[in-house]
Amino acid sequence: MSRARRFPVLAAVVAAVALASCTGEETGPPFREVAGTRLLMASVMEPAADHLWASVGWIITPEGEEKIQPQTDEEWILVRNAAVTLAESGNLLMMDRRKMDDEDWIGWSRDLIDAGDAAMQAADARDVQGEQVYFACAGCHAQYWANDPNQFRQ
Ligand code: HEC
Repeated sequence: MSRARRFPVLAAVVAAVALASCTGEETGPPFREVAGTRLLMASVMEPAADHLWASVGWIITPEGEEKIQPQTDEEWILVRNAAVTLAESGNLLMMDRRKMDDEDWIGWSRDLIDAGDAAMQAADARDVQGEQVYFACAGCHAQYWANDPNQFRQ
């Protein structure tokens, strides 16, 4: 078979594979988004982040710096749970119905996944910091929180 005759066959195979992968997407899991971006922030992410930030850090007292951190295994588990919630929220933000674009939005969501993952591992090592999570939240807000109440579905 000549090159010229083989090419259309190859093109047809490529087209068939492309079609199959499109169809595959349509028949994927039946996601049903209950919380839009704003409600996900308010009900899932903010409580988890608040718990994390309230549980770790430093306070300055007249006697000097005092480290705040969980005191019991149970308290550490709650901090770890918050870290897992934040990490997986990054994945939820990347879902088609929520993502604003395929570039920086994905980048900030990925930063949140990394930050939550790091906090989870740090909780296991009993040494959590809150900054990395904070930078992922603040970075995305600076870019996408347009203060337009109609932009995101509740
Ligand atoms: C990938 C982008 C992105 C990341 C990461 C992100 N946010 Fe948001 N967040 C938004 C956008 C966009 C809005 C504005 C939603 C609106 O105006 O309806 C918002 C709004 C909020 C709100 C206001 C919700 C309300 O009821 O009006 C809170 C609270 C919030 N974010 C908390 C957080 C916290 C805490 C984190 C980090 C743990 C975080 N967000 C990470 C994009 C992000």
